[in-house]
Amino acid sequence: MSAKSPKTSNDVSFYRPPRPKGRFIVGNIVDFRRAPLTFLTQLHRDHGDLVEFTAFRRRFYLLSDPERMHEVFIKKQKHFTKGRGLAVTKTLLGEGLLTSEGDFHLRQRRLTQPAFHRRRISSYADTMVDAAVEHMKTWRDGQSCDIHEEMVALTLDIVGRTLFGADVAKEAGDVSEAVDLLLKAWWIVLLVPALNKLRKVRLPIPVLSQVQNAIDNLDDIIYRLIRERRESGEDHGDLLSMLLQAQDDEGDGGQMTDKQVRDEAMTLFLAGHETTANALSWTWYLLSQHPEVEAKFHEELDRVLGDRPPNFEDLQTLTYTEMILHESMRLFPPAWNIGRYAPEDVQIGDGIIPKDTTILMSPYVVHRDPRWYPEPETFDPMRWTPEKKEARPRFAYFPFGGGVRRCIGEGFAWMEGILLLATIGQHWKIRLVKEHPVVPQPLITLRPKHGVAVTLERRM
Ligand code: HEM
Repeated sequence: MSAKSPKTSNDVSFYRPPRPKGRFIVGNIVDFRRAPLTFLTQLHRDHGDLVEFTAFRRRFYLLSDPERMHEVFIKKQKHFTKGRGLAVTKTLLGEGLLTSEGDFHLRQRRLTQPAFHRRRISSYADTMVDAAVEHMKTWRDGQSCDIHEEMVALTLDIVGRTLFGADVAKEAGDVSEAVDLLLKAWWIVLLVPALNKLRKVRLPIPVLSQVQNAIDNLDDIIYRLIRERRESGEDHGDLLSMLLQAQDDEGDGGQMTDKQVRDEAMTLFLAGHETTANALSWTWYLLSQHPEVEAKFHEELDRVLGDRPPNFEDLQTLTYTEMILHESMRLFPPAWNIGRYAPEDVQIGDGIIPKDTTILMSPYVVHRDPRWYPEPETFDPMRWTPEKKEARPRFAYFPFGGGVRRCIGEGFAWMEGILLLATIGQHWKIRLVKEHPVVPQPLITLRPKHGVAVTLERRM
C-alpha cells in the first residue's frame, strides 16, 4: 500500500509512506496532541496501513495492518525497544517489567511469570469477589456516583490485597495520587526529558515535587513490607511473596534485590489497576446505553449464579459476560496506543523501516477497522463467538499487546473484569445520568475524561 524507494542490494527498499503536511519544526504534534484518537483514526482512514508523521523532528510510523504488526511484536521483536514515551514512567517504576529492556527485562519476566501462573492467580478469585461485595455495601439504591471513581477504588483495593496481602487501601491513596500527577505531567516531562533528570534535585516546581513526595511515601511503605517479609521468611500467598521467593532457574539462579522487588511491585501496582478500572468503567457506560445487551447480561447472571456470589469455576460459564468485556475493550482499549522504537534499520514485510523511527500500533485504530469489524462503531458482543474470533487475523485485536512484552497480567485482568462485572451486575443496574458527557481521554491509558456519572439501581 505504501510507496517505496529503490535502495538496497537484495531488492528490499525503504518504505516511503504517505506523509501528511506538518508545521515547521513541530511537525504534526499540534494536531496529534489536540485530539490524538481523531488524528490517528483519520491518518489511517486517509492514508492506509502505513503512514508517517513527525513531532519535533522525531519520525513516527502509524502501522495498522495485523500481518506486519505480528512481525513487529513477535518475529522481529529483538530489533525494537519500547517507545520513548514510557521512559518517563521510570520516575515511578524504575527498572520494572514495563520499562526495562533486553536481557534484563527477559530475566525479570522469567522471575515474575510464576506469580501469574493460572493456578496461582485462581487463588485471587475470592479476594476479588470479596472486595467487590464489601465495596457494594457502601452503595445505596438511587444513589448517584462516578462509577469510574468507584472502579478505580475497587481495583486499587484488589491489587493492594493480591500484591501485599493486607488491606492497604489507606496507603494506596498515595500511589493513586502519584499516578494521577504523573499522567497529567506526562507531556511536559516527555518533551523536556532534562526536566525529569533535574527533578531529582527537587526543583521548586509544584507538580514535580508533589509527584516525588508521593513516590517517596510509597517507597517507604514498600521497602518496609519487603524488610518485614525477608525477616519473617513467611509466604503470605500474595504476589509480593512470589517476587521475593522467585529464583532464576533457567538463568543465573539468582533472586531479585530489594530494589528490583520494589520496582516490580510498583509496576504491578500501577499496571494492575488503572487499566482494569478503565475497562470496567467503559463497560458500565456501554451497558447503560444498550438495554438489550444489558438484559441478556442479567439473564446470564441470574441463570448461572442465582443469588450466590461468582467464583473461579464460573468463568467458564459466564461466556456472554466475557463477550461483553471483549467488545468493550475493542471500542475502548485501555492501552490505546503501543509504541516500538527501531534503533537500527529493520525489514518489516517487504520494506525497510529506517532507524530512529517509532512505530505506533494503536488498538483504538485497528479495533475500529471495518475490514475486521463491519459497522465498527456498533457495540455488539456477538462479534466474539468462537467462529468469528477465529476468522480474524491474530492482531486485529490486541488490547494486551503481543510477544515477549505482552501484558503479564492478562489472565488476572480477564478474571478480575469478568468477576467484578458479574458480582456487581448481579445486584445493581448502572444508569448513566442524563446528558453527562462521556468523553475518552487518551493519556497513557484511555480514561473517561469527566468520569461516568451514574445512578445506582438495586436489582436484588
Ligand atoms: C484490562 C486490563 C489491562 C490491559 C488492557 C493491559 C494492557 C497491557 C498492554 C497493552 C501491555 C503491553 C505494553 C507494550 O507492549 O508496550 C501491558 C503490559 C504489562 N501489563 Fe498489562 N494490562 C492490563 C492489566 C494488567 C494487570 C491486572 C497487571 C498486573 C497485575 C498488568 C501488568 C502488566 C505488566 C507488568 C506489563 C509489562 C509486561 C512486560 O513488558 O513484560 N496489566 N499491559
